[in-house]
Amino acid sequence: MKRLLALPVATLLTLTLAVPSSAATAGAPGAGDPYFPTQGNGGYDALHYDLALDYNPSSDALLGVATMNARATEELSRFNLDLVDDLTVRSVTVQGAAAAFSQSGTELVVTPATALPNGQAFTVVVRYDGKPTHVVDPDGSRDGWIRTSDGVYNANEPQGAMTWYPGNHHMTDKATYRFTVTVPDTRVAVANGDLTSRSSGGGRTTYVWDAREPMASYLTTVSIGKFHLKDEKVGNFRVITAVDPKLADKATAFAQRHAPVLDYFSGLFGPYPFSSTGGIIDHEPNVGYALETQTRPIYPVVPSERLLAHELAHQWFGNSVTPARWQDIWLNEGFATYGEWLWQEKTGTRTVQASFDAAYATPADDAFWQTPTADPGGPENLFHDPVYDRGAMTLHVLREAVGDTAFFAILKAWATEHRYGNADTAAFIALAERVSGRQLDALFDAWLFKPGKPAL
Ligand code: TRP
Ligand code: ZN
Repeated sequence: MKRLLALPVATLLTLTLAVPSSAATAGAPGAGDPYFPTQGNGGYDALHYDLALDYNPSSDALLGVATMNARATEELSRFNLDLVDDLTVRSVTVQGAAAAFSQSGTELVVTPATALPNGQAFTVVVRYDGKPTHVVDPDGSRDGWIRTSDGVYNANEPQGAMTWYPGNHHMTDKATYRFTVTVPDTRVAVANGDLTSRSSGGGRTTYVWDAREPMASYLTTVSIGKFHLKDEKVGNFRVITAVDPKLADKATAFAQRHAPVLDYFSGLFGPYPFSSTGGIIDHEPNVGYALETQTRPIYPVVPSERLLAHELAHQWFGNSVTPARWQDIWLNEGFATYGEWLWQEKTGTRTVQASFDAAYATPADDAFWQTPTADPGGPENLFHDPVYDRGAMTLHVLREAVGDTAFFAILKAWATEHRYGNADTAAFIALAERVSGRQLDALFDAWLFKPGKPAL
């Protein structure tokens, strides 16, 4: 502003006249998340992805055609998609016309033949291929396309989606998905949502999965392996499970276990938000973590009741209601941990109070208490204990303060008002104060924002 004011009037006039009537600009290369600045992109809103993938586990060759339907949110001369450059892009079209493109690191930069007007709905088709590799996260864990002995353990939180398809890979840009995945007949391809067709020919089988409710890309999965696949009605739910053949004798019990947990949570949090449920058990313990992939969590082992409850609670908290930034991750993990505590109490294993007491017993000088729940300090701490346990303790302290009726009304209102959307910590505090009619600044300051062990 200062600079502009310092310019002579004549220059200003020239500048004004020089601006063309069509002022198309480049979309930003990131969504502005402080933990992962290059994740996501500016200038458009992705609405739907149609991913056609052909994968051969023996040669490790992935062939992809990714179609993204989007809407421009500014006049765009060019825009970015997130895709690692281990994969080679062969062509890009925008609205059916060939577009110029370049790959650099994790950015695919697309320049359409003609600029896209603000508000324009448009379709991008990207043809690509290569041998996908996973990424190593700031905390040292792997995510993305993680190879297994028979296929892929595909878990994408927080940044793996860019290792296998181009997209707007920040959690704030949710979209619906269709996955059309072709694999050898000896393998099964499992994704999110509903299995809508399966067809074979020439030794290969194509699976079509439709995820019709909006999804953040870190919750997508296309898991491939020698799975025992079951698609059945259990109680009120369509349960689709894929289990490593070594664990096939556990498949029926695994599918059955979903209904009681989801019934209980539906009573507490409101209706289950998705058209199907289930899980994937890919026996690869070295991966070291499970993930709440939407509708169908992925587990490296047969989950305990506690782990099952954790990943199913995420379907409401994390998946249907998604944080707006990574530092709000306690809205996922604290809530899912509280879901574990609730389910353990319901099944007679341990009361919620006993779970709280055990976590609160952590000595005051333990490093645990130095991490503020609502900003764990950086991407290397996303999945640290304070996010999970201090997050769950925060909810319990809130419950003690406002009483059970208001507390469960808060959880239900959170799940209902932000269904399929994004919301941050400030929105949760505002909602808790509104529903309870209480001023809760001191409680949330101590439990969410300040380091140190809060007094009870
Ligand atoms: N969100 C996962 C869960 O709650 C945890 C998770 C994802 C994770 N990526 C991770 C844990 C990496 C440790 C390391 O189960
Ligand atoms: Zn979790």
